[in-house]
Amino acid sequence: MSAARIVVVGTGYVGLTTGACLASLGHRVTCVDVDESKVARLAAGRVDIMEPGLAELVARGLTSGGLSFVVGAREAVRDADGVFLCVPTPMGAGGAADLRAVEQVVGEIADVLPSGCALITKSTVPVGTARRIQELTGRPDLAVVSNPEFLREGTAVSDFLGPDRIVVGSDTPGAADWVANLYEGLHAPAVVTDAASAELVKYAANCFLAMKLSFVNSIAELCERLGADIEPVTRGMGYDRRIGRSFLKPGPGWGGSCLPKDTSALLNIAESVRFDFDLLSAAVEQNIAQRDRVIAKIAGAVGGSLAGARIGLLGLAFKAGTNDLRDSPALSIASVLCAHGAEVTAFDPAVGGELPGMLVVDNAYQVAKGADAVVVLTEWPEFTRLDWTYMAELMHGDAVVDSRNLLEPRTVLNAGLSWQGIGRPRATVRATSVS
Ligand code: UDX
Repeated sequence: MSAARIVVVGTGYVGLTTGACLASLGHRVTCVDVDESKVARLAAGRVDIMEPGLAELVARGLTSGGLSFVVGAREAVRDADGVFLCVPTPMGAGGAADLRAVEQVVGEIADVLPSGCALITKSTVPVGTARRIQELTGRPDLAVVSNPEFLREGTAVSDFLGPDRIVVGSDTPGAADWVANLYEGLHAPAVVTDAASAELVKYAANCFLAMKLSFVNSIAELCERLGADIEPVTRGMGYDRRIGRSFLKPGPGWGGSCLPKDTSALLNIAESVRFDFDLLSAAVEQNIAQRDRVIAKIAGAVGGSLAGARIGLLGLAFKAGTNDLRDSPALSIASVLCAHGAEVTAFDPAVGGELPGMLVVDNAYQVAKGADAVVVLTEWPEFTRLDWTYMAELMHGDAVVDSRNLLEPRTVLNAGLSWQGIGRPRATVRATSVS
């Protein structure tokens, strides 16, 4: 395909990655935002989002002239071949996705889009949104296309440039193929379909991942009660190619900007067509129960009562490799600990500043100082390289709760501390046999 003229509306996480990556594929991309100072920063090559490779791609696009940043969508779209809508669709009333930002942009640009232009949704939108956008524009000569993204934070650029698949759907003949061809250089399988099916793929995939994790966290709980070890159990499951090895790691519960929002939105969609999606509701409930189990473990580790206990937290982000705190299980666990009267100190390599109720410090050893228990909540690899003997010297108590099964239990044990993970045998000074 020859270079297309693309406009990306919204320079958040998804929009910026989409814009910079499409430019790197040879398209002429204009990224638009309403935030003037953000546009000015991006036009100067300053990227605020922590995402490996993104700043480099932006810089390259700016230098080659294939990527630019402007304020005001109306002007930018006048000669576009395709416009990607990458504005936020947060959780709105009753758990449904809030489409106001999408509708606002469509209202702003509908009458100036050139005939035949493709209006493409990248944001996760409810099934039926493409049809609704088409009606909103009042222009049958435009093609509305759904092209959901599957980017993970921390690996967004490599996910975009090396995707498992491209999903594109439209009810306008030929439009989905045209959008699929924008990704020609990527050699990924393309699922070209109708708009509603493409919209549903995104929810189905993310909700399946959430269910997979809730299932694993439940099996981990069974392991603890039955005296089994989740590590070999998931290893044994993962070799089955129908199950796959990824997304089998137990943790403090799944979080982030997508899974909680998308599970809630799909439940809402199901309800709108009077379908009881009990399976998915159970996965969401299990996720809350998982956080509560981690809190109970922490309470148990400090003798039963959190009031007055000094708890040191390692990690606040919802997963390693990001500074994103949105729907972070770590943050919600921290706030429950504070609410129960614990004195909470926290360190995260990517998160600074002030957070309510707790003291955020700038290194892991400060977290250990005087702590009754140290709790790993985010799987940052640097925590495995800490000097645990020094950590033990600084601590008041001897409990390490590892909600990510990140640390080598023996290392913690050798430092004179006790270790408990999720779904794994405890390692205490008395019982030294650790698997
Ligand atoms: C997710 C989807 O993976 C992505 O396709 C979609 O586009 C956006 O939502 P992201 O939110 O970046 O991506 O996070 P992801 O890496 O999927 O992790 C989600 C949550 O599950 C995190 O809280 C993570 O810690 C947890 N998780 C993941 C586990 O607890 N165990 C695992 O094995 C994997």
